[in-house]
Amino acid sequence: MKHMVAPSLLAADFNHLGAEVEMINRSEADWIHCDIMDGVFVPNLSFGLPIVEHVARVATKPLDVHLMIVHPDQYIQPFARAGASHLTVHWEACPHLHRTIAHIREEGMKAGVCLNPHTPVHLLEEILPDLDLVLIMSVNPGFGGQTFIETSLDKVKRLRELIDRRNPECLIEVDGGVNAVTGQRLRAAGADVLVAGSALFGATDPEAAIRQLKNL
Ligand code: DX5
Ligand code: ZN
Repeated sequence: MKHMVAPSLLAADFNHLGAEVEMINRSEADWIHCDIMDGVFVPNLSFGLPIVEHVARVATKPLDVHLMIVHPDQYIQPFARAGASHLTVHWEACPHLHRTIAHIREEGMKAGVCLNPHTPVHLLEEILPDLDLVLIMSVNPGFGGQTFIETSLDKVKRLRELIDRRNPECLIEVDGGVNAVTGQRLRAAGADVLVAGSALFGATDPEAAIRQLKNL
C-alpha cells in the first residue's frame, strides 16, 4: 500500500488558516491532522471544537483528530458533529478504552489509539482487533518542532508484527519529528501514515514538501 501523509495544522499560519487548508486540499496530502490539547494531559493548549468546525467547512480531505486530553469520552459526539472523520484518543487517558473505542465507532468515525513514547505496543494486544489505526508518538506530545525519538523505529517494527498477527487492516500512523529523512526510515519500519507539522509548514514551498513526503 502507498503510504499516506497527514499535515499537522498545529504548524500552520493561524492568521491564514483557510488558505492553509486550501493548500492542503490542492496538495497530495491524504488527511488533515488536528491536534487538540487541554493543558492537563499535555503541558500546552492548542485549539478546540470551533476551529475544527471551521476547518471542516473548507477541507476536502478527512479530518484526523488527535485528542491529547483527559476524559476524551465527553467530547466524542461533539467532534463527530464538528466534522472529524478519524478520532484518536491516548491509551494513557482511557481507563475504559474498549468502551471509548466503541463509542467513537458508533458516532460513525474511524477509531484510533495513541501511545506516548514510553508506552509499549504490547499493551494494545487485546484492543487491536477493534482499532482502525494506532498512532505512535515519536516525540513527547504537546509541542511541534521537537526531535524525533530514535527508538520509535523499533517500536513501529514491533507494532507491525503485532498488527499483522491481530488486525492487518489497522493502520500505523506516526507523529512527531517526521521529515523526509525520518519519514523514509519509518516507511521501511512499516508505518502507513506520516504526520508532519514543522517539516511541511516551515518549508519554503509546503505543497512541494508534502509531495516529497508522499513520494518517498
Ligand atoms: C505533537 C503533535 C504533533 C505535532 C507534530 O504533540 O501531536 O502532531 O504537530 O509536529 P512536528 O511535525 O513539528 O514534530
Ligand atoms: Zn498529533
